[in-house]
Amino acid sequence: MKRSHTCGELNERNTDKEVVLMGWVKNRRDHGHIIFIDFSDRYGITQLVFNSQTNLQVHQQAELLKPNYVIAVRGKVQPRLKGYENPTLPTGKIEINVEHIEILSKSEPLPVDIDSSATTISGAKYTDTVSSSELLLKYRYLDLRRPEMMNNFICRYRIIHKIREHFSGNGFIEMETPILTKSTPEGARDYLVPSRIFPGEFYALPQSPQLFKQILMIAGLDKYFQIARCFRDEDLRADRQPEFTQLDIEMSFVDEQDVRNTIEEMLKELLHHIFSIEIEIPFPSLTYEEAMKNYGTDKPDTRFAMILCELGDLLVKSDFKVFQETVKKGGVIKGIVVPTDGKRNFSRSEIDKLTELVKEFGAQGLVSFRVQNNSLVGSITKHLSVQIQQSLITRIQAQEDNFIFIIAGEDKIVNQTLGNLRIHLANKLSDIFNIKDKFTFCWVKDFPLFRYNEEAKKLESEHHPFTSPKIEDVSLLKSSPLQVKSRAYDLIMNGVEIGGGSIRIHSSDLQKEIFELLGIEKQEAQERFGFLIEALRYGAPPHGGIALGIDRLVMLLLGKESIRDVIAFPKTKSAICPFTGAPSEVSEEQLKELGINIFSNTPRT
Ligand code: AMO
Repeated sequence: MKRSHTCGELNERNTDKEVVLMGWVKNRRDHGHIIFIDFSDRYGITQLVFNSQTNLQVHQQAELLKPNYVIAVRGKVQPRLKGYENPTLPTGKIEINVEHIEILSKSEPLPVDIDSSATTISGAKYTDTVSSSELLLKYRYLDLRRPEMMNNFICRYRIIHKIREHFSGNGFIEMETPILTKSTPEGARDYLVPSRIFPGEFYALPQSPQLFKQILMIAGLDKYFQIARCFRDEDLRADRQPEFTQLDIEMSFVDEQDVRNTIEEMLKELLHHIFSIEIEIPFPSLTYEEAMKNYGTDKPDTRFAMILCELGDLLVKSDFKVFQETVKKGGVIKGIVVPTDGKRNFSRSEIDKLTELVKEFGAQGLVSFRVQNNSLVGSITKHLSVQIQQSLITRIQAQEDNFIFIIAGEDKIVNQTLGNLRIHLANKLSDIFNIKDKFTFCWVKDFPLFRYNEEAKKLESEHHPFTSPKIEDVSLLKSSPLQVKSRAYDLIMNGVEIGGGSIRIHSSDLQKEIFELLGIEKQEAQERFGFLIEALRYGAPPHGGIALGIDRLVMLLLGKESIRDVIAFPKTKSAICPFTGAPSEVSEEQLKELGINIFSNTPRT
């Protein structure tokens, strides 16, 4: 038999047509002389019917069919009996009266339940027990059979296809760059691959194609893009995997605005084309300072306001010791308002839970008030004069019945805590904030070029060492490096960093100076990046680019909580691939050939 149609395409217009379908038995309903089977493939579900009165032999064969058997059937399309149609299925008005069956492959009972969403990988949260989520990953091919999962990957494919089409249509050339390469510093550990020919030497898997895409600009390619695999050995979270996919672009003779416009136009087209969502461009942009001040993070979720409000100058005048001491020690006091509009109260135990939560984020405690009759009701109200209470209500723009949450402490901790608290509250209070199915984008720019690593006592790049400082700040590089701003920009979607890029350094001297400031010795710079420093000497055009995390973008567009839902074969939190069992030990012979001696071997628990 040769397949004539898929399980998703037949309808009443095909009535009386003889067809051959191939697919999986989803379930069987036995009604005595009639058996119904839901028959499925990637395209949908078609009902098969086996009637013992018209074809006894095929009915007897159908009695033996079990879920997940792969079969081929030949039969005629017929309308379903009136009242038995299924309006939720495109094929819901017809069924196939089967005349011939062939079993192509049998199936044992499945080790995981793919019909109940409770046990599926998307149902299993990142934090669920390792064993349940590992089991689902071990049988990933079964989980992928579920229509919801299948849909994720079809959407992912369509998104990537559209991205390719967009850039190809706009003069960009798609290029591939090496996987076996040298370390590119993106802030994570490298995955290393030993060389057999030169025992003791290693390739590094690329953390990104950063250096190659810059070199392609020096080669004169002008506009490049790539759907690139990147590898980073870092602590994993819901939006981090050890291997992930980036959309990388690089362009010559451009400034920040050109790169940002290019990405905005692509995203606008993408969302319109795939999701029929219209987004407004240009996206708003915030400076790093504004983002930290107003949202407590450089990844602001702009789907809702709840802006952080500075209260230190006001609350230092209260007689509450914690406030006074915080300001004396150079700390800050900031607050947020939950615009409950009388819809929502916070009980004592809910406030206690929030207090526990802020302690997890690093704060010492949480001060909360409710606004009632234009004054504040809360446990420390007695420490605040009527005048301070009213100034606070005005400053923070609280309305009657709103809740105010205040944190005092070190600047970094206060920002981090309130930043996390506002997201926690917006997710929890969906009746007030209504953030589901909303997409907001914003740029964060004017980052510092460096941050200071207290432990290592040295400067580190806030992005990567190839990021250009702002021209007007170059003179500060030696005297006040921490004041130098960079030409970097991050793209934030719904509070998740989906992209980052910059205008690059295209002068060999400036690049050498940055390496020096980062404490990379001349010889080390030569060994690690000599090829770049040299290439910059032979006519390097000014250039810049960006990379978007495709997995994160797809995750957000599909409303998923983890990038594992949109990566076909993801790894666990401990970077294991439960499906193949990687990583695994190798033979003594292989190690010998590579000149490798394993001197400590921690067995897996
Ligand atoms: P960056 O390191 O910011 O920039 O990475 C770009 C984007 O890639 C995604 N991303 C990840 N996604 C999943 N798992 C990970 N472990 C992971 N790490 C990063 C994020 C991030 O915004 N070379 C520069 C780009 C440039 O300057 O052009 C770079 O890689 O969405």
